Amino acid sequence: MKKIVLFASGSGSNAENIIQYFKDSESVEIAAVISNKPDAKVLERAANHQVPSFVFLKDDFSTDKVLNKIQEIQPDLIVLAGFLLKFPSNIVELYPNKIINIHPALLPKYGGKGMYGMNVHKAILENSETETGISIHYVDEHYDNGDMIFQQKVSITDCKTPEAIAQKVHELEHEHFPKVIERLLRQS
Ligand code: GRF
Repeated sequence: MKKIVLFASGSGSNAENIIQYFKDSESVEIAAVISNKPDAKVLERAANHQVPSFVFLKDDFSTDKVLNKIQEIQPDLIVLAGFLLKFPSNIVELYPNKIINIHPALLPKYGGKGMYGMNVHKAILENSETETGISIHYVDEHYDNGDMIFQQKVSITDCKTPEAIAQKVHELEHEHFPKVIERLLRQS
């Protein structure tokens, strides 16, 4: 059984979509959901699917607490799905090419510190972009910087609000993220 640990800070629609995708899998298991927010909706979603969840507050991320949990679980892949803190460098060093992140735009555009959630979609609308998309990449020590694994574009010429862009991007994320994860696990 290949094990995945999901990290998420908020709603967790991607996390839940991944949990559902692998629900009946005989080769992939969602071993845990980890959040830095005790009231994040993703925790409720994990509980609904009987996936164990753990909360580590922001300060815990500068200790060995999270690393210890990861070492206990021994995941084959760590997936950041809407995780807003900088990922601890001690874990990045120990798990090269085993940590991936999804970003709701076409990196390197609209990436980096502060570029998350609706900020991204607002900036894209303000700049009158005609297309956006998703980027799935390896995590290194910088925000939104590691090697690219997968990108997919979508036209947004019909989108008049950041919410409309967010919806299109979420649809793309839900369609592609689990499949990309499945492919990476097959290759690992
Ligand atoms: C997604 O758009 C993801 O790309 C970004 O944060 C959002 C999380 O959405 N990093 P959700 O919590 O999975 O609904």
